[in-house]
Amino acid sequence: MNLRKIVSAAAVGVLSLSLLSACNNTIGAAGNEKVTLHLASNHPEEHPVTPSLREFAQLANEKSGQEVEVKVAANGLLGGERDVIELVKSGTLQMAKVSASALEGFEKSYSIFSLPYVFQSEEHYYNVMENSEAVHDIFTKTKDQGWFAIGWYSGGQRSIYTANTKVESTEDMKGMKIRVQESPTSISMIKAMGGSPTPMAFGEVYTSLQQGIIDGAENNEMGLTSNKHGEVAKAYTYTEHQYVPDVLIMSTEAWEGLTDEQKDVIIESAVESAESHKVRWEKAVIEATKEAEDMGVQFYQIDKQPFIDAAKPLHEQFKAKNEDNARYFDDFQSYVK
Ligand code: GCU
Repeated sequence: MNLRKIVSAAAVGVLSLSLLSACNNTIGAAGNEKVTLHLASNHPEEHPVTPSLREFAQLANEKSGQEVEVKVAANGLLGGERDVIELVKSGTLQMAKVSASALEGFEKSYSIFSLPYVFQSEEHYYNVMENSEAVHDIFTKTKDQGWFAIGWYSGGQRSIYTANTKVESTEDMKGMKIRVQESPTSISMIKAMGGSPTPMAFGEVYTSLQQGIIDGAENNEMGLTSNKHGEVAKAYTYTEHQYVPDVLIMSTEAWEGLTDEQKDVIIESAVESAESHKVRWEKAVIEATKEAEDMGVQFYQIDKQPFIDAAKPLHEQFKAKNEDNARYFDDFQSYVK
C-alpha cells in the first residue's frame, strides 16, 4: 500500500468517526440550523479549480447569511476520485469535485463528456455546458442513487503528452502506453488512436511516468505544472481530443437536509463561481504553458484530422447503445454554430 492509499484509508477512518457530519446544531441568522458541507478535491492549492471551489464556499457562506459553511479539502486529502464519489454516494461526505470521466463508472451517460471530439470548439463546449437540457438531465438523473451534480468547472482541452518520444501522428501512438482516466470511453479512445491505454488513478501518474510504467498521459496544460507532470514528460502534443469538465457532485442526503433557500444559494454559488472560473482558467492556461516551457516541455501543433477520424466510430457506437445516448448526442450537436 503506498502512502497516498494509507492517507486515504486513514481519512476514511476519520470520516467514519463522523468528523464530516453535515450539521452542527448551531442556529444561523435566519433562524435555521447552520450546516457544514465538506467538499473534496484532488487538485492542489495552485491548480485554478481550487480557488474556484474556495470562491464557491465563500459565496455560499455570504449568500446564506453564514448558515452554510463549505469546507474545501483539496490535494486529494480525502482520497482519489473513485474513493470520494463512493463517500458522497453513501452520504458520508457531502460534496466533491471530480472529473466527469470518473463519473462514467457510476452513471454511464457521463461517458458523453469523454467522447473524443464531441465538442468542436471551446465556444461549443461552453454553449452545451451552460444551456443543454441533456447536461441537466445527466446531472440530475442519479438523485435517487445517493448523489447528483450541481455544477461544473471547465477543465479546458486535454491533449497527449509523453516522456521521451513525441507523438505527431496516429502511427506514433503504436505501442505507446498512455495513461487514461478510469473511464471505458477514454480507454476505447486511446485504442482507436492506435495506442495502448493504461487506466489508473491520477495520483499515480507522476511516478508511473518517472518509472517508465507508462510512456505518456493526457490532460490539460495544468497537468504539467500544478500536477508537476512536466518534470517527467517533455513533449506535449496538441491533439485536443477532449473537453472533460470537472463536476461538482453532492450527496442527495445532504441536499435534502437543506432548506429551499439554502438549495438556491448552493446552485447560485456554483453558477457564479463557474463563471469567474472561466476567466481564471484562461489565464492559468497561458501561465501554465509558459511555466511548462521553462521546465523544458516542448509543445507540438499537429494535423489533428487523423485523430478525429480515428475517434469517429466511437460516436456511432455511443449513439447506438440506447435512446438516451442518441438524444444526448443530438442535443450536444445542436449547439454547434
Ligand atoms: C483533470 C481533472 C481531474 C482528474 C484528472 C485526471 O486534471 O481536473 O479531476 O483527476 O484530470 O486525469 O485524472
